[in-house]
Amino acid sequence: MESAEQTPYAMIGGAETIRLLVEAFYARVQRDPDLAPIFPADLRPVMERQRLFLTQLLGGPPIYSELHGPPMLRARHLPHAVTPRRRDAWLRCMAEALQEIRLDELTRGWLLRRLAGIAQQMVNAPDAG
Ligand code: HEM
Repeated sequence: MESAEQTPYAMIGGAETIRLLVEAFYARVQRDPDLAPIFPADLRPVMERQRLFLTQLLGGPPIYSELHGPPMLRARHLPHAVTPRRRDAWLRCMAEALQEIRLDELTRGWLLRRLAGIAQQMVNAPDAG
């Protein structure tokens, strides 16, 4: 059967799940000593773009690209030093956020592997020292 209901977006619970995930994730980013310094103090605009990006990534409405154009995420991250250490911190925050919102283990693993692939592509600077 082919229908909108079959997208990963719909299967994980759609807009509400993504909203909860983004909130749980950036609450951690804000407390993380490696990540916090490269993010703006007001995280709301970033959270909104991430919400739209994840929605689109998982097969939901492509509003991110309608508003911001092609994601080109690596290019968008170049102004920020994304080190292997920050990649690991980002993925740790995401793993914890996925656990907090209680996605089932199978879905969590699937999504985390997908995001780990993207995170690896974002690395654009070596760790200091
Ligand atoms: C690997 C570690 C990562 C770090 C350290 C990182 C850091 C950042 C920073 C500093 C920003 C800019 C905030 C601002 O607007 O000032 C940003 C934006 C963003 N990041 Fe990441 N990021 C990482 C991985 C990822 C991954 C894996 C994804 C995708 C799932 C992602 C998606 C985004 C999106 C969608 C934006 C907003 C882009 C825009 O429209 O301007 N990031 N990130």
